[in-house]
Amino acid sequence: MFFNRTLATLLASAVIASPVFASTIKIGEVGSMSGSEATFGVSTHEGISLAIKEQNAKGGIKGKKIELISLDNQGKPEEAAIATTKLVTQDKVTAVLGEVASSRSLAMAPIAQQNKVPMISPSSTNPKVTEVGDYIFRVCFIDPFQGKVMAKFASDELKAKKVAILRDVKSDYSVGLSNFFTEAFKKSGGEIVVDQSYSSGEVDFNSQLTSIRAKKPDAIFVPGYYTEVGLIAKQARKLGIKVPLLGGDGWDSEKLYEIGGKSLNNSYFSNHYSQEDQSASVQNFIKSYKTAYKKTPDGLAAMGYDAAQVLFAAMDKTKSMSAGEIRDALAKTKDFQAVTGRITIDEKRNASKPAVVLEVKDGKFLYKSTVNP
Ligand code: PHE
Repeated sequence: MFFNRTLATLLASAVIASPVFASTIKIGEVGSMSGSEATFGVSTHEGISLAIKEQNAKGGIKGKKIELISLDNQGKPEEAAIATTKLVTQDKVTAVLGEVASSRSLAMAPIAQQNKVPMISPSSTNPKVTEVGDYIFRVCFIDPFQGKVMAKFASDELKAKKVAILRDVKSDYSVGLSNFFTEAFKKSGGEIVVDQSYSSGEVDFNSQLTSIRAKKPDAIFVPGYYTEVGLIAKQARKLGIKVPLLGGDGWDSEKLYEIGGKSLNNSYFSNHYSQEDQSASVQNFIKSYKTAYKKTPDGLAAMGYDAAQVLFAAMDKTKSMSAGEIRDALAKTKDFQAVTGRITIDEKRNASKPAVVLEVKDGKFLYKSTVNP
């Protein structure tokens, strides 16, 4: 009784304090809120939610309140497809935000495209995602660039000549990034001495790592997601492998260190943003995110926030917020100042943006360098 009355009072005051809306506009979100990539989904969701909260506090978009319908795919592509179908056909959302993992974005994109509902992936980097069609966008760089960034780092900074690869064959992201890295590293005169693989979900990497150890590489490129990468780092160090481990944005999780611990020291990965970036856009975002969630945002949170902001800006530029108008406005996004840099959407609906290289050191991600496209 007491609880109910308190709640009612709270709700009443919230209604009085917030803007009055004529109607609502529904945005769909699909993410891995559970499973072995749960931090990807949760962080992205928090970034998106923060952007929505701020936008609604400013009066929403064209007087309409933004309502988010968020669905968990448990990290499974087939669930991502089911969720997208529901959002598009039943909930009739205006746009879809998601996914993080390229394999799941690839499962979603044909559905969004077929139904002509604009979809923005905050952070899927495999080139194929936006190739699905003209309604599919992303606000991040793509893997041919990310592969180059780490190949350049390996040869210029680490002076590596021989690199081993350990790829996740179940992940479009990991396979693509391995290939792009290989291409770029060979171009710079390096050699890939061994190319081993695993399937996400596996927990024992000893046989692959033993084969890699035999080839005496100067570094190992492991473009997987944090759960497997943490285990791989541990098992590699146990086998006496001391050379640097290299990776891509899929390492970005607070869980990486929880799983891999100090085995991850002497490792480097490319990412979309660094918390150490002193620019006002990054520091203001960190401040409001900390206030909302009592923790420091990772790159996924920043990308989720940016994807939502780019969508709102495009919606705001339309006359009637029809799907076609939003699509056209998204395609015209130019020099949009986001947390993770300036976003210009190119003719392939990708964003061209700088990447950062981070060093993993005792659980911290230390800023090493910025690489421009
Ligand atoms: N880029 C990864 C992919 O395409 C997803 C990812 C982005 C993971 C950012 C972590 C951080 O699958």
